[in-house]
Amino acid sequence: MTQNSTIKAQMRQLIQILAQHNHAYYVMDQPTIQDSEYDQLFHQLKALEEQYPEEVHPDSPTRKVGGKALSKFETITHVVPMLSLGNVFHQDDLFAFARRAEERLPNQNIQYDVELKFDGLAISLWYEHGILVRGVTRGDGETGEVITENVKTIRNLPKFLSSSQIPVPTLLEVRGEVLMPKAGFEKLNVENAAKGEKTFANPRNAAAGSLRQLDPAIAASRPLAFYAYGIAQCEPHHKQTTMFDSLEWLTQFGFAVGECHFVCDSIQDVQEKYEQINLKRAKLSVEIDGIVIKVNDLKQQQQLGFLSREPRWATAYKFPAVAALTTVEHIDWQVGRTGTLTPVARLNPVAVGGVTVSNVTLHNIGEIHRLDVRIGDTVSVYRSGDVIPKVEKVWLEFRPENTLDVHLPETCPVCESPVVMPEGEALARCSGGLYCAAQRIEAIRHFVSRKALDIEGLGERWVESLLHLNLLKNVADIYSLHQHRAQLLTIEKMGEKSVQNLFDAIEKSKKTTFAAFIYALGIRGVGETTARMLANNFQTLEALKAADLDTLKKTPDVGDITAEWIVDFFQAEHNLEVIQRLVDAGIHWDAPLAPTRQPLNGESWVITGTLSQMGRDDATHMLQALGARVSGSISSKTKCLVAGEKAGSKLEKAEKLGIRVMNETDFLSLMAEYGQLL
Ligand code: IVH
Repeated sequence: MTQNSTIKAQMRQLIQILAQHNHAYYVMDQPTIQDSEYDQLFHQLKALEEQYPEEVHPDSPTRKVGGKALSKFETITHVVPMLSLGNVFHQDDLFAFARRAEERLPNQNIQYDVELKFDGLAISLWYEHGILVRGVTRGDGETGEVITENVKTIRNLPKFLSSSQIPVPTLLEVRGEVLMPKAGFEKLNVENAAKGEKTFANPRNAAAGSLRQLDPAIAASRPLAFYAYGIAQCEPHHKQTTMFDSLEWLTQFGFAVGECHFVCDSIQDVQEKYEQINLKRAKLSVEIDGIVIKVNDLKQQQQLGFLSREPRWATAYKFPAVAALTTVEHIDWQVGRTGTLTPVARLNPVAVGGVTVSNVTLHNIGEIHRLDVRIGDTVSVYRSGDVIPKVEKVWLEFRPENTLDVHLPETCPVCESPVVMPEGEALARCSGGLYCAAQRIEAIRHFVSRKALDIEGLGERWVESLLHLNLLKNVADIYSLHQHRAQLLTIEKMGEKSVQNLFDAIEKSKKTTFAAFIYALGIRGVGETTARMLANNFQTLEALKAADLDTLKKTPDVGDITAEWIVDFFQAEHNLEVIQRLVDAGIHWDAPLAPTRQPLNGESWVITGTLSQMGRDDATHMLQALGARVSGSISSKTKCLVAGEKAGSKLEKAEKLGIRVMNETDFLSLMAEYGQLL
């Protein structure tokens, strides 16, 4: 290959890689590389293009602003295109930017407006006669998506303009950035994780994902904020002569500008501000990836104009990436309150963005495989703002020969019960739910809860004190507390009376139902309904303990994965010990209704309307447990209709056909008669 064709191939490859990353970033909201890495590739391409201008490809991302607009929103062409900014990374480049401006404005004094470079999503807002009529994303800079309804849900953004000081323009187009402040982002991720929903990699993605919601109610529930950084159009003109003043003018209508906004008299001052802001970065409420420097005088801006798609009067001055290289010393497995095992890499401590990082979570074994991380490896660790540090990648080129593979432990590092991970699940868990010290609090809280063994007197305060005295190692210890009466009396504010009340409540809990007992064990996936089904189907603890996977899978309401969890639970020796101690302590129940005694066997029942005390699913399960089939429509074969509130056509039809109709109260008492309790 000639040198030129090699260069051409290299440029093509860079264009292709950048296009893939652009798609991931702008369209999928799932960036595949760090911004700083993207910038590096982009600059590499730009440098090659500058050297070989005749080889510049029309598809090059240096010719374009960003990604394509998604098709699901209406699109619109920006009257004033939304352009891009050049980047500088070092003081030398910053000074070169200033020199170029000075050369074009000979003998003029230049001041600089310094703003935060928000790491969010650029949008444009149209106000006609002071009313917000349109919100549009930047899209590809020429055409954006109309997201007015979502934009209106952003709390700190004025929907109407009014000011006692200044007249409201007939037309105002404000440009700015939508972002999710760090605190809101972290809260959203915690909430989503608890609900088992998608979490976001960073606030930028969370903001983008939220703004692109087709349902404005979802956008409204997300903590978004808008920061203004420019005026694209204003009629009549606002009369401000500088960038700084025009943004401050906007604040009179209630627009927010960033936490840091300055005018600098020289480019040296800008450099100083950059360093100060970099130090303050972690404390800012929003995520930024640098500062933006704009020639302050608006006339000078006009004189400088644009080069290609970037203004000559502004540039972004990016912060160095907050990533650092270090080595993995060890990988520990932590056991959470619900028994999940999380791998944590112990690192050779390293400063990342001003904070020393020595531990970083690797989430699960899948992540370990994805990263291909081994003990002894060199990894890059990054933080974005205050967000938890993460391993970015393993540097295979630095891998020493003696690295150690990481395996999921076979037994729990806390209690030595077997570790299990059913197929299709991402998380491994300790199977010693009742025994494992890491899961103690959660197991006890669940065991004493109302629908389990209902030990009302054993509240959080008691549990805390008892754990502190080391009197509760597992739930079976509840039933030997009476041997420690004297010690219990030493607990502050627990007198004779409260201790006696506690003992009474514990004594009372010994008489229970088989279903409540199964539920109390806290087996993963076994809620109240499943526990009831298991009780009805297996009848005795011995039968349940001995049940094999196939039999369990055939039990109504037991899914394949839950069946595995049940088997794992009863295979853990430690759990069996605790169960035995509970039974020995005197916990007992009446035999549940025999499955052969299915009083509604073969009958067809229908449920309609709203039930107030249970879900339709609960009602269906109860009927099924008694042998009935639950159907969705009334026919002459229907035995009985259970009608809740607002029953409609089904009720009419049943009455017409003379079919028995039962209200919710009667239904519940019938179920209770048959031993089906809510
Ligand atoms: S001014 C013609 N100011 O950076 C220049 N942009 O890389 C208009 N950004 O699309 C942009 N903070 O999304 C400007 N204070 C700021 C900014 C800012 C963040 C974003 C904006 C723009 C991108 C360009």
